[in-house]
Amino acid sequence: MIETRDLTKMYGDLYALDRLSIKLERGDVYGFIGPNGSGKTTTMRILATLLNPSWGEATVCGYSIYNSSKDIRRVVGYMPDFFGVYDDMKVIEYLEFFAAAYRIQGPARRKKCEEVLEMVDLGYKRDALVTSLSRGMTQRLGLARVLLHDPQVLLLDEPASGLDPRARIELYNRLMELRRIGKTIMVSSHILPELAKVCNKIGIIERGKLEFDGDVETAIKQVRPRTKMMVGVGEGRNAEAKTLLEKEAGVLEIEHKEPEDYLIVTLGEGIKDGSFLADTLIRSGYRLKMLKEDEPNLEDVFIGITKGLTA
Ligand SMILES: Nc1ncnc2c1ncn2[C@@H]1O[C@H](COP(=O)(O)OP(=O)(O)O)[C@@H](O)[C@H]1O
Ligand SMILES: [Mg+2]
Repeated sequence: MIETRDLTKMYGDLYALDRLSIKLERGDVYGFIGPNGSGKTTTMRILATLLNPSWGEATVCGYSIYNSSKDIRRVVGYMPDFFGVYDDMKVIEYLEFFAAAYRIQGPARRKKCEEVLEMVDLGYKRDALVTSLSRGMTQRLGLARVLLHDPQVLLLDEPASGLDPRARIELYNRLMELRRIGKTIMVSSHILPELAKVCNKIGIIERGKLEFDGDVETAIKQVRPRTKMMVGVGEGRNAEAKTLLEKEAGVLEIEHKEPEDYLIVTLGEGIKDGSFLADTLIRSGYRLKMLKEDEPNLEDVFIGITKGLTA
């Protein structure tokens, strides 16, 4: 649905985008993640045919950005990171204005506007002024707007930024719904964890270069190839348990977290199941209080990958 090859954008001698090659299949939800200034907006504006690249190829639904911008605008809904405010306009008027721009005519127009308002749960605000909406509601209205012409592909630029936690959860729910109905979505963020749950693929970009492209699990493996287990025993015997477990063949190393008093046990290469630790401890008369996998924090993954860490 979206394919780019060596897509490059230069501003003077700055590479805002440096040979970006990505591919999104129908139904993919692609998290496009990178710090500020890494080239996310540049990419989306090129795909929305609002900006020309310096060189490279890009197609959306098979249409080239170079000679089919009209077709692309028909199949794409682009939600910019900032959108203009329209004073003295009611929510429903705002949508009708854009529906008219998409040449949706007659009674179908009002019907479509009401429908997208319901999709983003803003039906009850239809007669409110756009300027009176909260940030979260404004984002939802922006989403409603890009859904008006029922595009197959959505480009959402930092839709979660500036939202409070509750509004974020609502946004995820909307995205999950759009994913369920089969839309192809590229959604950007400068924070990985907030997107990880919605996306089946992620791309991590830094200074215009794609540093990682794949699924979230692979990203985690790349940063942490070995399984770590959190282990705790009772009666203040964690230091003792450490000495015992260190003799196990499947254990690579153990760290004792002193103030919290538990162990982080790194397993040997290729070992995923840490339940043998429980067997050893119980057999030796310890009271097992905790045994669970220490899953890497997605923040760590993001930082690990953007620092070029692979082990
Ligand atoms: N119109 C412009 N003129 C010069 N430099 C620009 C322009 N637009 C973006 N840039 C630069 O290109 C880089 C990528 O920007 P952008 O795509 O907006 O990043 P992001 O959306 O990831 O924050 C940044 O270094 C930014 O300063
Ligand atoms: Mg941006």
